[in-house]
Amino acid sequence: MKRDVLLQALRDLPAGRRVITALDVPSQTDALALAARLGPTGGFVKVGLQLFSAAGPGVVHRLQDLQRDVFLDLKYHDIPNTVASAARVAATLGTSLCTMHAGNGRAAMAAAAEALAAVSPHPVTGRRPALLAVTVLTSLSEAEMQEVSPSADQLQDRIERMARLAWQSGCDGLVCSAADLPRLRTAIGPDPLIVTPGIRPAGAATDDQHRVTTPREAMDAGADFLVIGRPITKASDPAAALAAIAAELD
Ligand code: C5P
Repeated sequence: MKRDVLLQALRDLPAGRRVITALDVPSQTDALALAARLGPTGGFVKVGLQLFSAAGPGVVHRLQDLQRDVFLDLKYHDIPNTVASAARVAATLGTSLCTMHAGNGRAAMAAAAEALAAVSPHPVTGRRPALLAVTVLTSLSEAEMQEVSPSADQLQDRIERMARLAWQSGCDGLVCSAADLPRLRTAIGPDPLIVTPGIRPAGAATDDQHRVTTPREAMDAGADFLVIGRPITKASDPAAALAAIAAELD
């Protein structure tokens, strides 16, 4: 499936469906219970390192049994052959979105993108996974970044340079913090798919997020998908919390 066709198919989903609930839980039992509490229209869910390490690929299938689209956020970082092989597995599993580090470099990003371009659309989703690049982890400070990789670049310049490289290398888009979103969208243009965490509905607790953006603000600034965890998962009625966010967006 070509990049422009895939991106159009994802952007054609109603905005309210482009909310990804982060299943930041330690077991398959917890994940399935939470996914069920999102209600019949629960949509996209994120499976990250913790849940995948605990539950393995079976949890992806069980979530699909509940009609969930899966964002497999494993942030691959390895040699080209290995990341391309891992991306093929993400496609075989029927995930909708997967991630790798842009720090892998051009060859690995291109290898993963080519591997995904060659797979057949999955029978459940009708799509292949979109490949998203992570530029610089938002948990890294400027000082830490300089410690691991000294550069004359400011952090923001580095994020923009890596974002451009990811798109040129064939990635379908990026994961980008809500705080960086307007500037990054200006730098890379409208085409790359952007998935954004750090979202809080107006009035919600910020938890450990330092700078937050409301769902509406993030979409208006150019996000295509939003990753939202605790405002939904810790709500007394997660389905109602998700529905309220979706209603604000549609
Ligand atoms: O609960 P909360 O909405 O803060 O969860 C956001 C999700 O997005 C978590 O899974 C978190 O790991 C992830 N994330 C983030 N900030 C980033 C990158 C990922 O909050 N910069």
